Amino acid sequence: MRILSGIQPSGKLHLGNYFGMMKPALELQQKGDAYLFIANFHALTTVSNPQELRDHSRDVALDFLACGLDPEKTVFFRQSDVPEVCELTWYLSCVTTMGLLERCHSYKDKVDKGILPTHALFAYPVLMAADILAYQSNLVPVGKDQKQHLEVTRDIAIRFNNVYGPVFTVPEPFIQDSVAVVPGLDGHKMSKSYDNTIEIFGDEKKTRKRIMSIVTDSTPLEASKNPDTCNVFALFSLFASESEREALAARYRAGGMGYGEAKKALFEIFWARFEPFRVKRAELAAQPDYVDAVLRRGAERARVEAVKTLDRVRHLMGVN
Ligand code: ADP
Ligand code: TRP
Repeated sequence: MRILSGIQPSGKLHLGNYFGMMKPALELQQKGDAYLFIANFHALTTVSNPQELRDHSRDVALDFLACGLDPEKTVFFRQSDVPEVCELTWYLSCVTTMGLLERCHSYKDKVDKGILPTHALFAYPVLMAADILAYQSNLVPVGKDQKQHLEVTRDIAIRFNNVYGPVFTVPEPFIQDSVAVVPGLDGHKMSKSYDNTIEIFGDEKKTRKRIMSIVTDSTPLEASKNPDTCNVFALFSLFASESEREALAARYRAGGMGYGEAKKALFEIFWARFEPFRVKRAELAAQPDYVDAVLRRGAERARVEAVKTLDRVRHLMGVN
C-alpha cells in the first residue's frame, strides 16, 4: 500500500503541526510504502521571497529527519525535484472543469485572507492531484482542511480513467479524527496565522517566555482549578504519561498551585521530550550535504514512479 503526503514549507513548524501532521505521518512509515514530500511548488502561491522559500524548505527537511523520518523507509523528496508533476498537472487540467475548482472553499478562504487570487492559487488542487496520482498513491493522510482537495483528486482521477482508460489509482483520504485540535497560546487553534504558536525547535528563552504567556483564567492561587478547561493542561497532556497527567490534574483540583507552576511543568516536559530531536537536528544542520543527498535520493526513487505513470498518460492521450 502506498501512503503519500505533502507539507508546504511556509513557516516554522509548531506543536499543532507536530501532533496533527508530523507524528501521524511518521507513524505511518511503519505501515506501508511511505512517500513524503516538501510541497515547495504549492508554497509559491503564498511565499514570494526566494530566500524564505529555500530556508523553509531546508527547515522542514531538518525537522522531519530530526523527529524520526527514516529515509530508508520513507521516500522523502522536494516536489520541485520531480518536474513530471507539472506536466501531469497540465494533462489533468484538461479533464478538470472550472466548476469543480470554483467550489473549493480553500481558494475562497485564502482570497478572503488577502492572498493574491492568482491562477496558481485557483489551480492549486490540480497540482495536488498530480502529486497524488503521479505515484499511484492509495492512501493520503491529511488534516480536515484538505478533505475537499482529496475529493477533487478522486473526481479528476475517475474522470481521466473514464475518458482515456484506467491509468490512475483512485486514492482514499486518511483523516484522523482522533487528532484533536492543538490549542495555541490564546486558546484558539494553534496556527502561524494567529501568532499563537509554540515552535518545535524554537530558542529556549523565547519558548519559555511564550509558554509563560499562555492565557489562563483568573482563579486565585489557593483555589481549586479545573484542569479540563485549561490550555496549559491540554498542552501538557500531549506529552505526559497517564500517571504524569493524573498527578498534575490532582494538583489543579487540590488548589494551592498557581498557573505559573503548571506552565513551568509544561515547559520542562516539552523541552525534555524534544531534547533528543534537538541534538539530532543540530547534527543534521551541520551536514547539509547529507540532507541534500537524502532529498536527491528520494527524488530519484520518486521519479522512477512518476516517469512510469507519465509514459502511460502520454501514450493514452496521444502526446508521444
Ligand atoms: P498553520 O495553521 O500554522 O498555517 P498548516 O495549515 O500549514 O498550519 O498545517 C499543516 C498541517 O498541520 C495541517 O494539515 C494540519 O493537519 C496540521 N495542523 C496545523 N495546526 C494544527 C493544530 N492546531 N492542531 C492539529 N493539527 C494542526
Ligand atoms: N495542500 C496540502 C496542505 O496544505 C499540502 C499538499 C500538497 C499535499 N500536495 C499534497 C498533501 C498531496 C497531501 C498530498 O497541507
